[in-house]
Amino acid sequence: MSGKQLSLFEQQPEDSGDFFTRKRSWSASKHRIMLKYIQSFCYNLGGDQPYQSKYLNYVDGFAGTGKYDQGIGIENFVGNSNFLKKYSNDFSDTDGSPIIALKWAKIFSQENRVNLRCFFNEANKKVNEKLKINCQSLINELFCKIYEPKKFALCLPELMNDLENYPTLFFLDTFGVKGVTFEQICLIANYVSQYKGELFLLFHNIQVARHAGQSTARSEDPQKLKAAQTYTQNLTALLGPNSELDWKPKWLELNNLPQHFERWALEYFKSRLLKESSFRGVGSFKIREDYNDRRPQYSLVVCSNKPEKAFGEFLNEFFWEEDKLLYFKDNQSKTAQEFLEREWNHETNERIIKVKPIIINLLREHLINWMPVNEVITLLILKMGDLGYLKRTQYREILLKIHQEGILEARNLGTKGKVILESQIRIVK
Ligand SMILES: C[S@@+](CC[C@H](N)C(=O)[O-])C[C@H]1O[C@@H](n2cnc3c(N)ncnc32)[C@H](O)[C@@H]1O
Repeated sequence: MSGKQLSLFEQQPEDSGDFFTRKRSWSASKHRIMLKYIQSFCYNLGGDQPYQSKYLNYVDGFAGTGKYDQGIGIENFVGNSNFLKKYSNDFSDTDGSPIIALKWAKIFSQENRVNLRCFFNEANKKVNEKLKINCQSLINELFCKIYEPKKFALCLPELMNDLENYPTLFFLDTFGVKGVTFEQICLIANYVSQYKGELFLLFHNIQVARHAGQSTARSEDPQKLKAAQTYTQNLTALLGPNSELDWKPKWLELNNLPQHFERWALEYFKSRLLKESSFRGVGSFKIREDYNDRRPQYSLVVCSNKPEKAFGEFLNEFFWEEDKLLYFKDNQSKTAQEFLEREWNHETNERIIKVKPIIINLLREHLINWMPVNEVITLLILKMGDLGYLKRTQYREILLKIHQEGILEARNLGTKGKVILESQIRIVK
């Protein structure tokens, strides 16, 4: 096989030279989630309270150029959100993740809220130069360190040293399977469990499946064998030490079933992280091009030391909103909107009906003692393990119905005798 055939380059539209010429819808989706999460992270952990810090870090380990020539998906989104509207002049469709972080850093500095220290790493020399130019006008009095072009693995020791024990949000936006290893993720987990923060990283399911396929391909050709070894090493480095003992037989078992292997691999990766790293929670969100797309472009894997807050309060809502946005995508006409609104409500009702018996079982298992409604909702979101399936207010409605049916009892009711978020509930039957 020629070197050209061995390359994954052609099969990997993401990893092409024109990545930054036109922002794709799935990149915009990832940017919207990061945009909202950076704000929540800084509003939550930045400040003067004993659990807060005046300094926070944002790390973009695969930063890119910071700007796309053509962009989408940010300006309308910020302008249409009641919560974000006041920032509608600040963000632009063409912003990449490092620029989004820098713009937040500037806003937080003007609000006197927190110093968000930005650390950007980008291996490609030309891309790194562009990144520096694109950040220049924003940096002024902000803290921003752009490392000299080097691979993330080589930058990591210096980077960890630079973080100075402040809470840190890590974003590792790799192009594929290569770039970050399971062991490096565990190192980040140790930092986060000590000093707070989260890790967001992309799991490229299609690339994962291709790697497994290439590495198990049989051949007598020494060149092909060598290439297969490299694929094995790369995938094993991501999925965890000795993981080939698990993923190779799984590939042989599942490779004829569309997407089964990559779904298995994602769950395997998440469960190993949960068992072997010091993260307390690992969740994921499928980033798709269309709502009905069965194969996501990739999954955003989120690892946290405080999943109650990160998953239960922030990301559950953000993922739900992102799904809704995808559902209504590109349908601007009023009639289409009304139709979709009805369909969306129908789907939500179906979800509620489907999930109610599961919730009752979870409550029977976990809600023996009194607990505030707010915390019960968080508990349900974490136990359900499907972030963004319903939003918090919908879980609350289900709890109210279950209470009306006499399965739950409540105390500390609101003024009109109603169950409110602060009320406490427990299971009675
Ligand atoms: C998906 S792009 C980043 C996009 C950017 N985070 C955004 O959202 O605007 C990935 C970037 O990582 C860079 N890269 C690839 N391998 C790398 C490595 N091992 N270390 C650091 N950067 C790398 C690529 O040159 C590319 O610019």
